[in-house]
Amino acid sequence: MDKWTYYLTTSTTHTTTMDLLRAEIIMYMVAGRDTMSTTLSWLFYNLARNPNVISIIRNELSPVASSKASTTGNKGTHIIFNADESKAFVYLHATLFENLRLYPPVPLEQKTVASTDVMPSGHEVHDGEIVIISLYAMGRMKDVWGEDCLEFRPERWLSEDGVKLQYVPSHKFLAFNSGPRMCLGKDIAIMHMKTVVATMLWNFDVEVLEGLAVEHKNSALLQMKKGLMVKVKERET
Ligand code: HEM
Repeated sequence: MDKWTYYLTTSTTHTTTMDLLRAEIIMYMVAGRDTMSTTLSWLFYNLARNPNVISIIRNELSPVASSKASTTGNKGTHIIFNADESKAFVYLHATLFENLRLYPPVPLEQKTVASTDVMPSGHEVHDGEIVIISLYAMGRMKDVWGEDCLEFRPERWLSEDGVKLQYVPSHKFLAFNSGPRMCLGKDIAIMHMKTVVATMLWNFDVEVLEGLAVEHKNSALLQMKKGLMVKVKERET
């Protein structure tokens, strides 16, 4: 079969594959962009209110930063952390999860009932009904997260010795959804955000503008109404 015969006999499949590929790429861009930027706005907002968390993260970054500085010899320039290095930053990971618990960028999940059933709460649901779950509210429930559920405390995600992340089931921490339609970009999102936050915190002081009124925007994503206004300066301490 020559090139043209092959193209004509397979052109429909070819177009469909390209359309599908295009749709997949757009979906990855849309699914990943606003979710990560929203998460990072809330994260810097929470860090500004919890400077002790910044100090702990900087201590965690310190050994990797020192070894990078000594191998490159570029002591004066900014340190940029990469994906592999970010795997070791467990406290930073816990901080990201704590931020996602209180400020999930996708604050509501909608499910359609496949067949009549009784929920663990005792509520009966019927075929075709829609159930909306507020991830935002779930992240702030005492029954789920304990008495200190409103506190920003990354330690709750760590093992007792503080060196590992504790296992938390996805149906308890729903920021990335749970079950078969779970976020496909979860690991890549965590890795990207860890490298960005590590690099920012190691090199810069990020100061939220005083008197800034931070409010939620009414949208499908938990964005800030007017964004987060910050001053970024070279790190002093
Ligand atoms: C902070 C970052 C992110 C959060 C919190 C997040 C959260 C979510 C949630 C809650 C869903 C389920 C939506 C639904 O069906 O109701 C979802 C789906 C999805 N996410 Fe993410 N996402 C994040 C980043 C990303 C990134 C970076 C990518 C791609 C690289 C991505 C790709 C996807 C895809 C492809 C789906 C659809 C999965 C499916 O329906 O089978 N996400 N995400």
